[in-house]
Amino acid sequence: MGNRKGGVGKTTTAVTLAALAAEHGGRVLLVDADETESATELATRAGDMLSVDLVTEHRVGYLTSLDQISGYGIVIVDLPGARKSGELSALLQNPRTRRPVIHGLILPTEPAGLDLRVTVRTIQEEVIPARVPYRALLTKVNPHPGAVERARQLQGELRGMGIEVMDALVRRLVAHSEAAGLGMPITRYGGQGKHDAARRAESEYRAVAQEAFGGMLKLPGWKGDQ
Ligand SMILES: Nc1ncnc2c1ncn2[C@@H]1O[C@H](COP(=O)(O)OP(=O)(O)OP(=O)(O)O)[C@@H](O)[C@H]1O
Ligand SMILES: [Mg+2]
Repeated sequence: MGNRKGGVGKTTTAVTLAALAAEHGGRVLLVDADETESATELATRAGDMLSVDLVTEHRVGYLTSLDQISGYGIVIVDLPGARKSGELSALLQNPRTRRPVIHGLILPTEPAGLDLRVTVRTIQEEVIPARVPYRALLTKVNPHPGAVERARQLQGELRGMGIEVMDALVRRLVAHSEAAGLGMPITRYGGQGKHDAARRAESEYRAVAQEAFGGMLKLPGWKGDQ
């Protein structure tokens, strides 16, 4: 999970996809490579509700050794949003081998001008040259139907520019921030009249998981792996 932009939903997406991957089966490693340690905080508070292993480590030497790790079906790295962070560059191209460390990159981005320009530039200047499979993901989309419609148009415009964008999008829903506030993955949130809203919020990320693990990574057992 990476983008050279802060507050766009990287950590939310990382933790939620980790929860969905664990639920699907297989061991999951979540690597918190952001010094602010927000994924660590979320995962620690979630405790048994999130059955993934957690490593808090941002040193490039560790991150570039992740392609050697064994015993996990999926490794998810939550990157910092800083413009100049070296972590994303190193994962796109290991400085020693000059090859990518990661098998795929999801770039969460809000559908607003400045965020999008950063995302498009990162994809064109760094991700495509590194030949790493990737998907941009529109997040925190205003849930008003007109705004969702505009986000759909934006997906089409980005595709017209040759950018890979997920069909799934994630709306800005209070269920996401409430779950985070309570330290729960959205998959476990939903008591006290919040059940339906939580399941709607979760279902958007279930679609993201299919496109990420099936469509982009072609992992067996996920839709789109053929
Ligand atoms: N779809 C959503 N709906 C509502 N709130 C959201 C959604 N996604 C994220 N948020 C909230 O927005 C804030 C930023 O999200 P998050 O921490 O996931 O972004 P980030 O890209 O990891 O930020 P940073 O760059 O600081 O690491 C958090 O308070 C989170 O709970
Ligand atoms: Mg974060």
